[in-house]
Amino acid sequence: MTPPVSINNLTVSFDGTPVLENVTFKTRPGELTVIVGRSGSGKSTLLRAVNRLNECFPGCSTTGEVQLALHDGQLDVYSATTCPEHLRARAGMVFQSPNILPVSIARNMLLPQKLVRNVTGRSAEEKMRHMLERVGLLEEVHDRLGAPAATLSGGQQQRLCLARALALEPEILLLDEPTASVDYRSARRIEELLLSLKNELPMLVVSHSLPQTQRLADRVLLIRKGRLVGEWHRGQANAEADFEKMLSTTF
Ligand SMILES: Nc1ncnc2c1ncn2[C@@H]1O[C@H](COP(=O)(O)OP(=O)(O)O)[C@@H](O)[C@H]1O
Ligand SMILES: [Mg+2]
Repeated sequence: MTPPVSINNLTVSFDGTPVLENVTFKTRPGELTVIVGRSGSGKSTLLRAVNRLNECFPGCSTTGEVQLALHDGQLDVYSATTCPEHLRARAGMVFQSPNILPVSIARNMLLPQKLVRNVTGRSAEEKMRHMLERVGLLEEVHDRLGAPAATLSGGQQQRLCLARALALEPEILLLDEPTASVDYRSARRIEELLLSLKNELPMLVVSHSLPQTQRLADRVLLIRKGRLVGEWHRGQANAEADFEKMLSTTF
């Protein structure tokens, strides 16, 4: 079984100071991987290493290897021939705060499909409705798709961001504390969606919540001060007791 995500000896430094050091892990197909750790431990940096978003910050340097199993084979993320823009089109990302575009709900869904996938017209509209339905938003917004996305609640905006990312048909999805700024109901809807997607789409999810990690994770990666200090997976012996032991000091 090819690991969907395989990271080997990853080190990321900002201005010469390492914030992630020698991180190595592999995920398995069908697993939802949750990354946990205290604030500042390097979780977001780890996610951004997968789609090379750290490179957008001056002073960042990355060494080590990130391999992704995509539909047409293995992608060596840091190979000289890998184009970061193409990589990011295939590795979707959802951020902690909803980053909606200052346009209508519909345009938020349609514009990226046109720009990234060159999908327009009826196909784009169908995809929009399908994904809005999938995130539980269509019922709430079907009669005001032309309204500014900014008029949605925080939880609705985050579900819109998720629908927008999914409409681009990512081959892996990176989610950085996707429910940190949303209401409880939206958070649970997002969790249900992630669980329903895990067999179709490899996901790395940073979580700030122990109960959420318990509900979602098939694999947990515990980061402390830039190092991977604990790894747990659902199938291991003593899974329940070890989960408690590993995470009791984290949240
Ligand atoms: N763009 C950046 N420039 C300099 N330092 C950064 C940058 N991004 C993150 N860091 C530093 O890297 C460390 C890890 O940050 P981050 O990955 O955001 O942690 P977490 O997501 O676990 O809260 C922190 O010390 C943070 O200050
Ligand atoms: Mg973070």
